[in-house]
Amino acid sequence: MAAELESPVGTPAPPPASTLPRPWHTILKHAALPTLTHDEQTRFNVVAAMNRFLAQQLLPRVEAAAKQSVEPALEAELGRPPTDRHEYRRALERNLTWRIWSRMRRATMEMRQQAGQLTVLRQLPGLVNTCRALNATGDQLHLDRAFSPPRYLQSLPAHLMPGGYVGERVTDDVAAGASYEIGIYATLGGQSGPASDRAGRATVAWLAEHRPGWQPRRILDLGCGMGANTLVLARAFPEADIVAIDAGAPMLRYGAARARALGVDNVRFIQGDIEQPPLAAEAPFDLIVSLMVLHETSRPAVQRIFAASFQQLAPGGLAFHLEQPPYRDKPLLEQCLRDWDGRYNNEAFWSSLHDTDLVACMREAGFAAEAVRETTANAVPVEPPPGQTLQEDYGRGGAWYVVTGEKPLAD
Ligand SMILES: C[S@@+](CC[C@H](N)C(=O)[O-])C[C@H]1O[C@@H](n2cnc3c(N)ncnc32)[C@H](O)[C@@H]1O
Repeated sequence: MAAELESPVGTPAPPPASTLPRPWHTILKHAALPTLTHDEQTRFNVVAAMNRFLAQQLLPRVEAAAKQSVEPALEAELGRPPTDRHEYRRALERNLTWRIWSRMRRATMEMRQQAGQLTVLRQLPGLVNTCRALNATGDQLHLDRAFSPPRYLQSLPAHLMPGGYVGERVTDDVAAGASYEIGIYATLGGQSGPASDRAGRATVAWLAEHRPGWQPRRILDLGCGMGANTLVLARAFPEADIVAIDAGAPMLRYGAARARALGVDNVRFIQGDIEQPPLAAEAPFDLIVSLMVLHETSRPAVQRIFAASFQQLAPGGLAFHLEQPPYRDKPLLEQCLRDWDGRYNNEAFWSSLHDTDLVACMREAGFAAEAVRETTANAVPVEPPPGQTLQEDYGRGGAWYVVTGEKPLAD
């Protein structure tokens, strides 16, 4: 079938122009944060504005094109309604409106990563020294020089991040962490808050609602990255001892320095594989979380991470795994939109994770059937302004799916 070139008939008027996203300079400032020139900030502001345009203005046109032209043409071609998202996506890929939206969305990610690299690499020696100085005292950083990250983290740079989370170019490299912090703020247009910590705030809000008054004393954050969300837990539970583990030394160096710069001193950042956390001396934990991590690991890895969270959980404790919502039961167009990262954004495990029954995985990991629960978590969004609604930017929303597991108190 030839590429669909015409605009769909009767395309609805785009929704009222939304305000621009929050400008980059509204990001949380701290001593480890890279400094950005006016032009560097502008690059990120362009990325954020493009994302806002794509989600708010172009996506409704993609949806109209799918309904009015792609779906009828596909049904005529197949002689039946489409039944799975893969055949639906192949048809979408022949539609010009989809192709423009998808290509531009990919371009925003490429631009973000390039802008992040340019900004961080030109000041890397200074950033390394700042983080070294912040990490020189205290007990917050534990790296393992003999550690080799899992192969998928070394060979698959998630969401087009040059070098991924684990790549190192210089001694004591912090580029991955620094670039992640300044870039994710742009991709989300500040929607995750000045500290890009909405998942952490959603977690704490969920705990306040579902376990009111609970004060976990030992907390484990699996796949903490640069620790933005870990610090929300650290502040919510100031008496707790928090272990934050990740494979990426540049993420951990930056995260530990960032925590120090922000005056948080109850988190220890430890390098290791969350499939087999090297924490025999630390366990058990009252609360074990993973926040937006599972989509970056393979299906067998997810099973091992759940098994580790069961083994390392204290009696009466809670395992809490937060992710983007599964979409396998959604309408096919929505499945394709939510599946976009798995196809075009170097998220190799995204699609298979969302086809996985995480409740079954938790039970297989050792949790009793009645102790496993599917739930949702959210935090108060930064926007929209009064009177406006923002169309969801699929795959980047702040309304998360959570699977939890509880360990019974010992007899
Ligand atoms: C999308 S980031 C999320 C980071 C953090 N939880 C947050 O909320 O910002 C995923 C993180 O998981 C880490 N990760 C993935 N698989 C891992 C593994 N097997 N062992 C340790 N860390 C892993 C990556 O290095 C990366 O920092």
